[in-house]
Amino acid sequence: MHDQAEKLRLRLRRQTEGKTAQTVAVISGKGGVGKSNFILNFAISLSRQGRRVLLFDMDIGMGNVHLLAGLSPKTSIVDFLTGACSLPEIIEKGPESISFISGGSGLSAPVKWDPEKIAELQREIRQLMFEYDDFLFDFGAGMQEETVRLLLGMDHVITIVTPEVTSIMDAYSAMKLLILNAYGGNLYLVGNRMKNEKENFDTLNRLQNALSRFLHQKVPVLGYLPEDAFVVQAAKLQIPFLLYKENGKAAKNVRIIAERFTGTASPAEAGGTGRFLERLKDFLSRK
Ligand SMILES: Nc1ncnc2c1ncn2[C@@H]1O[C@H](COP(=O)(O)OP(=O)(O)OP(=O)(O)O)[C@@H](O)[C@H]1O
Ligand SMILES: [Mg+2]
Repeated sequence: MHDQAEKLRLRLRRQTEGKTAQTVAVISGKGGVGKSNFILNFAISLSRQGRRVLLFDMDIGMGNVHLLAGLSPKTSIVDFLTGACSLPEIIEKGPESISFISGGSGLSAPVKWDPEKIAELQREIRQLMFEYDDFLFDFGAGMQEETVRLLLGMDHVITIVTPEVTSIMDAYSAMKLLILNAYGGNLYLVGNRMKNEKENFDTLNRLQNALSRFLHQKVPVLGYLPEDAFVVQAAKLQIPFLLYKENGKAAKNVRIIAERFTGTASPAEAGGTGRFLERLKDFLSRK
């Protein structure tokens, strides 16, 4: 009861101030490069800075962030779609006070979205945006048309790149798609599974040069995560690597990335919310 009143007060205050959550997506192009591991630990780092974070698993039907977080959510976005649950009912409490919406797993057929439900989701999310500082979105592999459309409405898009040539190529193609579609938000790069700082610099610098030369886009680097055995062990144990080994290199670096992000990312501009919600509708209305 007290919690509800507190939320309402917060929402009203932020509504008056015109403050809404900023939207942040993590993508890669190539699959399996570490997006889900990164976003979960990035979310925890932001939360530790005192930010209110809501993490969405947008890999609908095949999500796995909950597994990495050791959660077994009883509900997912699919329950909202089928009308079984309201939006607040599908928000789970994750580690270190992050909030989490599961994408649902083990679904073979794509979910049918009813237009009424999509409109309801937009309304509910519009309200929720006053309760949080950051909405983080984890996507599955690939850049399907509806994913691109949703990404175009995000304030920030972070692309994860590993030293593999295929990952570099796919990261370039993913960012090219956004740039050619006149993406107006902020793009960032994060290296993953790098041997060291030098390998990260060499890999991302090549990518930055290509983006600047061919697409006239400057894309800053937020940092990198090293290849770290603790990340693999933590995933097996279903504990976020940040909580598994606080002093591990990956844990240290994800904290640095989160600090750089909040230090450099400009707050969401007014009007961004409406654009994001329209894109969300497009994303969910896919066949
Ligand atoms: N820095 C790292 N060091 C060692 N292993 C890592 C690192 N980052 C990710 N991995 C391993 O890579 C695998 C894939 O990670 P993850 O599931 O986060 O990738 P993903 O990009 O989300 O995949 P998908 O595209 O399928 O959603 C995991 O098994 C994880 O343990
Ligand atoms: Mg993933």
